[in-house]
Amino acid sequence: MSNKNKDVIILGIESSCDDTSAAVCINGELKSNVIANQSVHEKYGGVVPELASRAHQQQIVPVVHTALEEAGVTKEQLSAVAFTVGPGLLGSLLVGSTFGKSLALGLGIPIITVNHMQAHVLAHFIDDPSPSFPFLCLTVSGGHTQLVLVHDYLKMEVIGETIDDAAGEAFDKSAKMLGLKYPGGPLVDKFARTGNPKAFEFARPKAPGLNFSFSGFKTSVLYSLRKWGKDQPTFVEDHLEDLCASIQHTIVDVLLKKLKQAAKQTGSTQLGIAGGVSANSGLRQGFESLCKNHQWEAFIPAFQYCTDNAAMIAYTGYQMYLKGDFADQSVSPKPRFPLGIV
Ligand code: KG4
Ligand code: ZN
Repeated sequence: MSNKNKDVIILGIESSCDDTSAAVCINGELKSNVIANQSVHEKYGGVVPELASRAHQQQIVPVVHTALEEAGVTKEQLSAVAFTVGPGLLGSLLVGSTFGKSLALGLGIPIITVNHMQAHVLAHFIDDPSPSFPFLCLTVSGGHTQLVLVHDYLKMEVIGETIDDAAGEAFDKSAKMLGLKYPGGPLVDKFARTGNPKAFEFARPKAPGLNFSFSGFKTSVLYSLRKWGKDQPTFVEDHLEDLCASIQHTIVDVLLKKLKQAAKQTGSTQLGIAGGVSANSGLRQGFESLCKNHQWEAFIPAFQYCTDNAAMIAYTGYQMYLKGDFADQSVSPKPRFPLGIV
């Protein structure tokens, strides 16, 4: 059956790291969002790029098939295929982009190449309520930490970012030092709930202006754990909840201080958080009370649209479709793909 009534039906594909995901949106409304996680990396304590791309290859066909089925559309009805073109792991990006290009070529429909970080920001528009423009977004993920002034769906300006490690990396590396399995961020969050956030002090890295730095914090966690564990081999075990709560408290505090500074500097009154780390309960609570104290409007995407997903890719694809922003079949993945005013 063809799409005769001219609905805009977008298939979104996400494969930038270790989640294979496909989603369908019709006229900007999400109809399905299927995510296959990769447990293969757990025993290595981090994402192994080669294993990630092999797992994407195994998962992409069933994931896309299920997304179409759940949305109740056939591939012949699609208006365009949108996929993450970057930033991300080259081998992982190659699977989604090659699949997306081939499918679109076979169907004779356009391709849309989506910036993963832009899509994280646009996750705010998948469900209501959503912010109006302009708004300020703190995007925090495994590879990025950015303060973004969002002028329009596709017009974004990075006004601050990390000069070394991302917030997600600070969570994951600290978790690894505590002996927690990968990805450690959600586990730190879990143990932090019953811990004392003021139990331990860690270095609060300073970065100029609206930028962030987390490498000094990571080193501080490492040296502190070594020192405290020297005469007490079960130190981490005995203080796991307090350690997690203190680590989380420090990271969240650094993030929110810069967000506050950016809001004051830009005069923003609508604020959002996005990306995998925005699933963190401490950050979500801290963000909400910061906004409440300043009478700013707070926006947080639903939990499932914070971590990597194709719903945000399909939605961004929809906005790009409306602008006629299509790519050529010669396009190739961009492991580094800065977000800027487009
Ligand atoms: O956006 P995302 O899913 O993938 C990237 O684009 O990187 O973010 C993944 C990051 C990982 O570092 C993961 O540990 C972190 O988000 N994360 C969390 C939580 N859920 C995911 N960090 C802290 N608390 C959480 N609940
Ligand atoms: Zn992401």
